[in-house]
Amino acid sequence: MTRHFLDLSDAGPDAVAAMLADALERKAARAGWPKGRPDADAPLAGHTLAMIFEKNSTRTRVSFDMAIRQLGGTSIVMDAGSMQIGRGESIADTARVLSGYVDAIMIRTDDHEKVVEMANYASVPVINGLTDASHPCQIMADLLTIIEAGKPLPGLKVAWLGDGNNVLASIMEAAGLMHFDVVAACPQGYQPSDADVARGRGRARVVGTAREAVEGADILVTDTWISMGQSHAETKLNAMLPFQIDTALMAQAKPDAKFLHCLPAHRGEEVTPEVIDGPQSLIWPEAENRLHAQKSVLRWCFGQI
Ligand code: CP
Repeated sequence: MTRHFLDLSDAGPDAVAAMLADALERKAARAGWPKGRPDADAPLAGHTLAMIFEKNSTRTRVSFDMAIRQLGGTSIVMDAGSMQIGRGESIADTARVLSGYVDAIMIRTDDHEKVVEMANYASVPVINGLTDASHPCQIMADLLTIIEAGKPLPGLKVAWLGDGNNVLASIMEAAGLMHFDVVAACPQGYQPSDADVARGRGRARVVGTAREAVEGADILVTDTWISMGQSHAETKLNAMLPFQIDTALMAQAKPDAKFLHCLPAHRGEEVTPEVIDGPQSLIWPEAENRLHAQKSVLRWCFGQI
């Protein structure tokens, strides 16, 4: 059966744990190597990954491109607007055509149903590179970063400060699968849906104040509140500002708590510069880990994990 990675639950907890262990091992094995040099075993030699972007990207685009190269394969990167799907060709037809050319497809789109449809019609693995509903590749990198920081996942308290978006939905799903707790502090009107909270299988909850979420937390996470390029959304920003992560809020968490942000960031909005650029921040290894985690996702899609 073709293995698609649309959400963490497509793999399940054992495979997620195995992918994370594989990512740590492969990262260590190539420490200090030039980025473009393939891994010694080049396990996906001859494979091609097609990437379709309906939305802007820096990390997802470059990290997937380098991931397939380091695994010995190649990539084709396309903006949806320059493809025929940008002019009305169906996802189903595109999926069937691409399946004849390439070995896997990664797609980023605002509409989760398009990724589901791509997977329904493709005969090669389809990977969710972010939708309006979830961002599983980001969460794989986040989990890897947390483990790498010496914090085993079971029993951790993760605090989310911000709105109920796609990244939070995937963190909640991860909490349910990997047995940690996520407490989300979200202002009225910006809370996650009940369905997203249910993805946490009883390990996700929503509170009304930042302090309640952060008290005793091991990990603090936020995300940009206003999408890059959007005109300033003042109403939203005003509602969100009590949830900004600053040094005073960090001090309410455990003394060795860490800060994560998937980037891009607006310093001075969701987080202060002192925190995001401070000693508890793991944003740079988190960004790098997109590459290492996705190499394992790709290997899982091809049955190598
Ligand atoms: N975090 C993330 O997905 O970054 P990009 O939007 O740059 O891909």
